[in-house]
Order: sequence, then C-alpha cells, then structure tokens
Amino acid sequence: MHVSDLLAAAQAAPGFMPDDEGLALYEAARGVAVPGPLLEVGSWMGRSALYLAAAARETGRQVVTVDHHRGSEEHQPGWEYHDPSLVDPAVGLIDTLPRFRNTIATAGAEDVVVAVVTRSEVLAPLWSTPLALLFLDGSHTEESARRDQDAWVAKLAVGGTLAIHDVFPDPADGGQAPYGVYRRVLESGDFTELPGVGSMRLLRRER
Ligand SMILES: C[S@@+](CC[C@H](N)C(=O)[O-])C[C@H]1O[C@@H](n2cnc3c(N)ncnc32)[C@H](O)[C@@H]1O
Repeated sequence: MHVSDLLAAAQAAPGFMPDDEGLALYEAARGVAVPGPLLEVGSWMGRSALYLAAAARETGRQVVTVDHHRGSEEHQPGWEYHDPSLVDPAVGLIDTLPRFRNTIATAGAEDVVVAVVTRSEVLAPLWSTPLALLFLDGSHTEESARRDQDAWVAKLAVGGTLAIHDVFPDPADGGQAPYGVYRRVLESGDFTELPGVGSMRLLRRER
C-alpha cells in the first residue's frame, strides 16, 4: 500500500493514540537522518505501528514492534480499559495478537512490520542493531517504564530519535512514569528536545 493509504489505515485502526500524535510520530520517523530500524515497545493492536510503517515504507526501513500481547495493567480484569472480548478463553488471558495481525495485514504492511511476541525486557538483551528511532509505549508503571528506559535508550544511534508517549507533566492528566523517563533522559544531557504534540515527546540523541 502507498504511504497515504497506510496513514489512512492507521487513523482507522483500533487503539487510543490520537491522530495528531500519530502523525507527529510518522513525521519524526520519516525525518530521522541515521540508518537503522524503527523499534516500538508496545504494539497493542497495531495503530502506532502503522504510523511508523508509513515512514518505513517511505524511507526503506523496517519497523520492529515488541509486545507480549497480554495487555498492560489497565487492560486487565477490573481495570479501566479491560475488554472481556479480548480474553482468550483457552488460556484465560488477554490476547491482542490476532487483532494486531489483522490491522497490519489489512493495511498491507506485513512487508515493513516485524512483530516480536515477548516481553520487551526479554528482547532487549538480544538486540544489538543501533536504532534510528525508539518509541516507548509499553507498560506505564514506574518500574517497567524505568526498565524499558534502562534496556532500550542506550540502543538508539547517535542522531536517532526517541519518542515517548503519554508524557503528562501534570499528574491530574495522567500517570507520571513516562514523564519520569522524559525528564531523566533530558537531564542526562545526551538529548535535545524536538517539537512534540499532545502527550508525544520527541528527543534527538546528540551523543
Ligand atoms: C498503550 S499499549 C500500546 C499502544 C500502541 N503503541 C498504539 O498506540 O497503538 C501498551 C502495550 O504494551 C504492552 N506491554 C506491557 N508490558 C509489556 C512488556 N513488559 N513487554 C512488552 N509489551 C508490554 C501491552 O501488552 C500493551 O499492548
């Protein structure tokens, strides 16, 4: 599919990412100036992966997206975003992989999207290719957000772009774990901030 069709498919895909934030992710990914793949932590049903896929198609890259497909804390029974129709009765756990595959296949993006089904902390020690873009959008607990930061940020190439979703400086707007990642990364002095949109923060690695 053509880039504009992929963007339209992303806008129609299931998920919670607002279109303006998805388009900011797409623009950041298509504009990154260093070689390497785009890697996403947290695939859910493939919406943000399609924004990245549009950029990958345009620039001759691949998107790697990792998720165990069992949902985050807020997707579990009794929590705000639980959807009982996602539970696989055979195992009694959420399984978003079929929906993810459907999103990517119907958009015609299987050639540019590589899905890895595991916990991000399992994949990270196996991963050595410098990343052109890293998009952090997995579990948002303090512990797991720190773990993803520690595991993945150092794998970003110098000149590459770090995207962090759900960054809310005001606790009234949302959880603070992604904001903590954003602050620590900026305070490291290794990154400069690029213009972001909504809760999407974009930073370039300078050294
Ligand atoms: C907010 S959703 C991702 C949304 C997606 N980026 C989008 O915008 O379409 C968070 C995802 O992170 C996944 N996740 C949570 N903890 C994880 C972990 N330790 N490793 C990999 N994926 C994880 C969940 O299964 C869930 O699908």
